[in-house]
Amino acid sequence: MPAIMPWVIGNWKMNPETPTAQQQLTQQLIDHIAEHLASGAALVNLNLAVAPTLLHLLTVQQQLQQAKSAVQVIAQDVSRFAGTGAYTGDVSAQLLANAGIGMTLIGHSERRSLYGEDATVLREKLQAAINAGLKVVFCVGETLTEREAGQAEQVVLQQLDEVFDCIDLQHWQQNLMVAYEPVWAIGTGKTASPQDAESMHAAIRAGLKNYHSSLVDLPILYGGSVKPDNAASLAACANINGALVGGASLDADSFIKIARAFSQDRKAG
Ligand code: 13P
Repeated sequence: MPAIMPWVIGNWKMNPETPTAQQQLTQQLIDHIAEHLASGAALVNLNLAVAPTLLHLLTVQQQLQQAKSAVQVIAQDVSRFAGTGAYTGDVSAQLLANAGIGMTLIGHSERRSLYGEDATVLREKLQAAINAGLKVVFCVGETLTEREAGQAEQVVLQQLDEVFDCIDLQHWQQNLMVAYEPVWAIGTGKTASPQDAESMHAAIRAGLKNYHSSLVDLPILYGGSVKPDNAASLAACANINGALVGGASLDADSFIKIARAFSQDRKAG
């Protein structure tokens, strides 16, 4: 398996509260990265991204670009409807792409549980995103009840299976990443143990390989209470290719510490 360049993505969800706070968080991110570079501890072989609210996607992007930052800006979600039209409240993949946003999350457990997004909706969203040229981080994960019933792996593989055939293999190869986020670990302070996370990631990778051998090197990110103090043990797992970070990404210092854990330069500084 070729080395997979890890991704560390900060999902800011519906935070922070004001435009000023968004700007400060972005600036802190820029400053922390600069400090790391200045100390010779570069963040190498790593993709970094943040997902602000829709309201702030472009201002955060502009601020990062002005600072010549390599941090990418991605959307937290996308409309199931394509193009333009009478879809009050929605933003389509095409509008995101036209505004220079190249990637989106789809299928986050909060979208599934709080907004009732089922496989039909997620298939439409995936198709809309791919047709507009966006890359996608597709999120999967089981609830605590499902885990306790011994169904975790089955549920997660099913979540992949129900969308797999809605886009071409070529797009899976080039434009998809998977994020495993056990629902019981999101925002709870409970992280999956590195062994449990690794075991699920290995199962996801085997499932992808079953679809086609070329999918064996798709990045598979872990999400769910990733913090600076557990990032290194997760990063050490062979099948964990990055992190999707919620709460800890709202603190630039914590986020960069997590990024360091996944950077291949991590032993240098
Ligand atoms: P927390 O890191 O706050 O648990 O959130 C994880 C998540 O949902 C990222 O998408």
